[in-house]
Amino acid sequence: MRLTVIGCGYVGLVTGACLAAAGHEVFCTDIDEKRIALLNAGKVPIYEEHLEEVLNRAVAEKKIFYTSDAGEAIRSGEVIFICVGTPPKESGEADLSAIDHVARQIATEARTQKLVVEKSTVPALTGVQLQKALAAYSAGGSLKFHVASNPEFLREGTAVGDFFHPDRIVVGVEDAGSAAKLREIYAPILERKFHCPIHPGKCPTGTAGELLVTTINSAELIKHASNSFLALKISYANVIADLCEKIGADVEEVTHAMGLDPRIGTQFLKAGLGFGGFCFPKDIQAFIHLSASVGIDFDMLKAAERVNKERIDRLFEKVHKALWVIKGKKVAVLGLAFKANTDDTRFAPALEVIRRLLAEGAEVHATDPEAISHTKRTFPQVQYHEDPYEALSGVDAALVCTEWKIYKNLDWERAGKQMARRLVIDGRNLYSPKKMQELGFDYHSFGRT
Ligand code: UGA
Repeated sequence: MRLTVIGCGYVGLVTGACLAAAGHEVFCTDIDEKRIALLNAGKVPIYEEHLEEVLNRAVAEKKIFYTSDAGEAIRSGEVIFICVGTPPKESGEADLSAIDHVARQIATEARTQKLVVEKSTVPALTGVQLQKALAAYSAGGSLKFHVASNPEFLREGTAVGDFFHPDRIVVGVEDAGSAAKLREIYAPILERKFHCPIHPGKCPTGTAGELLVTTINSAELIKHASNSFLALKISYANVIADLCEKIGADVEEVTHAMGLDPRIGTQFLKAGLGFGGFCFPKDIQAFIHLSASVGIDFDMLKAAERVNKERIDRLFEKVHKALWVIKGKKVAVLGLAFKANTDDTRFAPALEVIRRLLAEGAEVHATDPEAISHTKRTFPQVQYHEDPYEALSGVDAALVCTEWKIYKNLDWERAGKQMARRLVIDGRNLYSPKKMQELGFDYHSFGRT
């Protein structure tokens, strides 16, 4: 099928690349002409594992095309996936101006009927507004637009794998024709008829994800309800961690045992610096806002948000206790990205950590395998090092902010010899307290004594 993707951020590019790999012809467009030029030059503007490989293959097979001419892209596809940003406003409410702008473009540029699919994360009832906007902007025209919601459940860092091997594909529709079209689009994914970059031989057998057909309102709600629940789970684990510290228990032991109950599950119970990124913090706010707008006080989400913000305070309590005065101290920050395997630093806890260290007068030495260039723009006064051992050289303390594998496997014996003082405050619970103590470190983590 001929498909259009509007918005070439990580969701748009992963969606476009994977649908092209599934055999569709995909026309991608973005308001940012530089981004389109970069893509046409064979460069991928974001770091996402396997994405470059899948895109290059799609380009070689003439299955994906990039254009800055939105009209051309809109006219080329039968189904249009909206993948534009929905950032938070000051109030926490999602800013849907990009969706509105795209609706106007589609309504004015389309010459044939289109199925318009919301892929961007949007609050419930956006579909209703989108339908109205399409009708209003094409007033006088005879074209009928169908609207659907197809939320993405892609995690940054594993997004290509998540697209090819979904737990579920949710399609919220208002008519059977739209459901049939989306079923056809996703059939190669569900039947595993694509070249999988993750499993080059053959994908492991096992149940493929399920395609669920719902109403548009339900589909929109599913996305926010899922992300908010996961965020709640993380904050829950973090309160348990605080409790463990007070009463002398080990949060890893507690959450592991809790998670073995299949009703709870082991994932997203990792305590530490909490959640960041462009999804959980903004989605939780948008969900609180949406709930309030219909008279529901979702106060447990407010608590989850508060607990998450307080993670940085908890970290600094540990820093102050162990290091005492921060002013004039040389401090290494290991990890800048909001989580491992991405270069994304949006709402990354590490940035707030750096901001506070600088405010208290520390000399900050930061390292990250992928996110240095992004961070440099925000904090030019920090000294950056590609090599973590270099970052640790001569420091009074090391703060671990991202769970990168190279930090997990760091040779602390070697690092310790280079540090001015063997003090590690681990915001991601990467190391065994016992082993770190044996290596002579003053080691602090979350919820473990
Ligand atoms: C999240 C969801 O997991 C995806 O399903 C969803 O599609 C995506 O948002 C989205 O809405 O687009 P993502 O933001 O990429 O994906 O990252 P996660 O892997 O969910 O991690 C979020 C944050 O929680 C990270 O900062 C991570 O370090 C933190 N986290 C995660 C914890 O602190 N503890 C955990 O146990 C798990």
